[in-house]
Amino acid sequence: MAKRSGDTFRQSGQSGQSVQPAESRRPGESAEAISCRNLIKSFGDPPMPILKGIDLTIAAGEFVSLTGRSGSGKSTLLYILSSLDEPTEGEVFLQGRSVHSLDSKEQHRFRNEHVGFVFQFHYLLPELTAVENVLMPTRKLGLHEKKREQAEHLLAEFGLDHCINKLPSQMSGGEVQRCAIARSLIMDPDILFTDEPTGNLDTVNGDRVIEMFGRINKEQKTTILMVTHDPDYARAAGRQVHMVDGRIESDTRTTKTAKRR
Ligand SMILES: Nc1ncnc2c1ncn2[C@@H]1O[C@H](COP(=O)(O)OP(=O)(O)OP(=O)(O)O)[C@@H](O)[C@H]1O
Ligand SMILES: [Mg+2]
Repeated sequence: MAKRSGDTFRQSGQSGQSVQPAESRRPGESAEAISCRNLIKSFGDPPMPILKGIDLTIAAGEFVSLTGRSGSGKSTLLYILSSLDEPTEGEVFLQGRSVHSLDSKEQHRFRNEHVGFVFQFHYLLPELTAVENVLMPTRKLGLHEKKREQAEHLLAEFGLDHCINKLPSQMSGGEVQRCAIARSLIMDPDILFTDEPTGNLDTVNGDRVIEMFGRINKEQKTTILMVTHDPDYARAAGRQVHMVDGRIESDTRTTKTAKRR
């Protein structure tokens, strides 16, 4: 699976705060895939702060795990960084674009072409088979015929050969979850946001998913931000960010990839 070379996305007038285009970067200088400054998110009335000033920069090609107790704000942060929710204050840049400044059509297009998601509550469309679900993101661009083989290959890599033509209601929870992961990879995203991707999986399938992420990170230079409660999987990423009560408490780099159990 080759990575797209050209970036045809055009910035809107509002989103002009970009990083340097790739061709003007110095050799060896890494681009920022994800960055935010003083991100604040409040919910409710009166507003209750949930994210309390997040500063985070992730370079293109990094594999980062995000850990923290239940309720510390991990999913909230992932939703905002991936542009699916808006911050109360602060700004998010994905590949240099101020994503919340884009209009919804531009945001949708940007996400479709550059970003993959696996969310904590993964939703497959119940009336579509596994392979049709995986191919969903390709339909808008008319690529579903071209991508069919890749979709079947991805399902096979996650041990889902026997599910290709099954509906989600005919699959187990773990199979549905792996199918959602396959769907997130079908467009060869530059950035993958993934929220507890191994939550419903046994060790064998959890390991398979983490190995797959490690591989696409290494081979395709996909930037990955992965929420996990599993300390072994967190250590498998090159960098570990830990949240406590809406703030980043620590941000450490792992020197060597941890071997699983
Ligand atoms: N739409 C919302 N309205 C009000 N409160 C919310 C909303 N979404 C999240 N919260 C609150 O924000 C806090 C952080 O939630 P979040 O889902 O980000 O936690 P998390 O770290 O992902 O936890 P978990 O590990 O359980 O998934 C929680 O206290 C939650 O109740
Ligand atoms: Mg969560």
